[in-house]
Amino acid sequence: MSKIKPSKGAPYARILGVGGYRPTRVVPNEVILEKIDSSDEWIRSRSGIETRHWASPEETVAAMSVEASGKAIADAGIDAQQIGAVVVSTVSHFAQTPAIATAIADQLGTDKAAAFDISAGCAGFGYGLTLAKGMIVEGSAEYVLVIGVERLSDLTDLEDRATAFLFGDGAGAVVVGPSKEPAIGPTVWGSEGDKSETIKQTVSWDRFAAEGHTKFPAITQEGQAVFRWAVFEMAKVAQQALDAAGITSDDLDVFIPHQANVRIIDSMVKTLKLPEHVTVARDIRTTGNTSAASIPLAMERLLATGEAKSGDTALVIGFGAGLVYAATVVTLP
Ligand SMILES: CC(C)(COP(=O)(O)OP(=O)(O)OC[C@H]1O[C@@H](n2cnc3c(N)ncnc32)[C@H](O)[C@@H]1OP(=O)(O)O)[C@@H](O)C(=O)NCCC(=O)NCCS
Repeated sequence: MSKIKPSKGAPYARILGVGGYRPTRVVPNEVILEKIDSSDEWIRSRSGIETRHWASPEETVAAMSVEASGKAIADAGIDAQQIGAVVVSTVSHFAQTPAIATAIADQLGTDKAAAFDISAGCAGFGYGLTLAKGMIVEGSAEYVLVIGVERLSDLTDLEDRATAFLFGDGAGAVVVGPSKEPAIGPTVWGSEGDKSETIKQTVSWDRFAAEGHTKFPAITQEGQAVFRWAVFEMAKVAQQALDAAGITSDDLDVFIPHQANVRIIDSMVKTLKLPEHVTVARDIRTTGNTSAASIPLAMERLLATGEAKSGDTALVIGFGAGLVYAATVVTLP
């Protein structure tokens, strides 16, 4: 018989607060057109993107994270010292080690919170949320800060017409804490590593250094293959998350899919047969694709504009490089 005491966590977990940070510089399609043969009309109609934000040298991964997290902590009504763990999802923090999460935990004034980074591309927010829920229910942290943050402008080849217009920078954060009732549903998640080449870095860091490449590594993708996968497979995953939560689309108030392409969003809305009353996040128009930051940024904006309200039931789904995905139903903070 085991001598180990069982850990004591909360019965359930919920998102208690959300915050976002968008870099000051707004970049319209006209700036993108300086380097690629395209048009404002093509970019808008094929992706939905009108403007995106690009970070300045001062708007670092850590600085944007601290700004977004400060807002999330205030929104949750807790003190930074109560945070037991900081999970940062990013693919654009450029030091292999240490994780950027420890500096962020320190700058926020947490009391030596556990802190680590994860790499789950555009599914990073859902992956972080799932970890946070587990920690709270298991009892290793009372409050967990989940941050999605990217400076994808650093990893964009502005001469590649297939990707130059897609990406943006920003940070979104949520505080997850204890709840008396279920407020984060079961996560439907997974990976399809056989498709890992469809979204990738043009050249790995070791080859970049060894082979004397002149172009800094960037994110490249097989746009059509990813588009088809997102449209056909991710609607199924979204439906599975609704089923797992024990609700139907009629019970939903809000749909917050990863902001990769407005046509993917519209197609998912159609396949899922979402009723008219469901508010759909289309933050991509002015934010572009900010990978791990896209869902919390879109969530924050819907709440800030009043399009969604506290207590609403929302379906969130992220998908991207890996390929990986994660979907769950949450109660909005
Ligand atoms: C990138 C994306 C917007 C491109 O849209 P698309 O409709 O698939 O475009 P295609 O690549 O099929 O190209 C269609 C045509 O437009 C052209 N084209 C490509 N980029 C262009 C650009 N920037 N401007 C103008 N024309 C362009 C192509 O050359 C092609 O021309 P052709 O028909 O004469 O051959 C779309 O594929 C996409 O959003 N993919 C998924 C993105 C995603 O989810 N990523 C996940 C990362 S998290």
